[in-house]
Amino acid sequence: MRETSPDPIAPDHIDSRQVARAFDQAAGGYEQFAALQQEVADRLDAHLNFTKITPHRMLDIGCGTGFLSGRLRQRFPKADLLALDVAPAMCALCQRSLGKRRLPWQPRRMVVAGDARYLPMASGSCDLVASSLTMQWLPDPVAMLREMRRVLAPDGLLLFSTFGRRTLDMLRRTLASIAPEHAGRVLPFSDVMRLGDALQRQAVQLPVTDSDLMTLTYPDITALVRELKGMGASASAIRHRQGGLGGRKLLRQLAEAYPIDSDGRIHATFEVLYGQAWHKPAEYQHGAGVIPILEE
Ligand SMILES: C[S@@+](CC[C@H](N)C(=O)[O-])C[C@H]1O[C@@H](n2cnc3c(N)ncnc32)[C@H](O)[C@@H]1O
Repeated sequence: MRETSPDPIAPDHIDSRQVARAFDQAAGGYEQFAALQQEVADRLDAHLNFTKITPHRMLDIGCGTGFLSGRLRQRFPKADLLALDVAPAMCALCQRSLGKRRLPWQPRRMVVAGDARYLPMASGSCDLVASSLTMQWLPDPVAMLREMRRVLAPDGLLLFSTFGRRTLDMLRRTLASIAPEHAGRVLPFSDVMRLGDALQRQAVQLPVTDSDLMTLTYPDITALVRELKGMGASASAIRHRQGGLGGRKLLRQLAEAYPIDSDGRIHATFEVLYGQAWHKPAEYQHGAGVIPILEE
């Protein structure tokens, strides 16, 4: 029998148009709330310290305001960079940020609006296909992985980060303690094993996954919810069927139930998963890139 609970690797409840709208609205204030995203982009970029690659063309999928794009361009100034995002306001901000530090030989237009599931690039056209903290917003992350692999050039590297299942664990548990159905207000995130499995099923070689657990503290629950909204993770947009986190009554209940640390602050945990893999010619891969991960 098919399981009815949401599959963390293929959360069919995410509405991409709502996600695009939420990030479009959040774009202006995004950087103010995105210290975590900046740190993750830095750590993802640091994965390249251990790889031997000199890309000619790089792609950053779900570029946001351009944290990772900026890092990649700094690291490989001679390579062509293309950044892509589904939210037009994010594209505009990324274009502006990259434009400020453009070197004379780099093209003026580096950002395009598009969906990670249907990349507007030719197959095998990018040597470095990267993405930071975008995959968790896809209704079908495996479709994104497949597209990343499709546009990857021979000898190219695919590199990404996404949130893991332990992300916002305390928030989910506290919501469940208020009422079991409230736990569904927090997005289910990927499991590192299943993500690694999905990666391995693409036509890639040397796939590697690793994870970081990052703990952030906040003065109170309102500050945590404000930050989640500010970074575009507007719960009402993502889990619109369950309702958001913004209702006054729920916020009051959360404030009473969320554990307070000895210093009077609260904390939230973010599990960040990293994945990387090298291109492998499809003919060497059994069932390459065509097996969707579905729960039986
Ligand atoms: C959490 S932000 C991360 C942005 C940037 N990579 C960073 O690290 O700051 C997620 C980004 O993914 C974009 N996004 C969400 N769904 C997308 C999709 N289906 N295709 C392309 N971009 C998408 C959002 O618009 C948003 O800019």
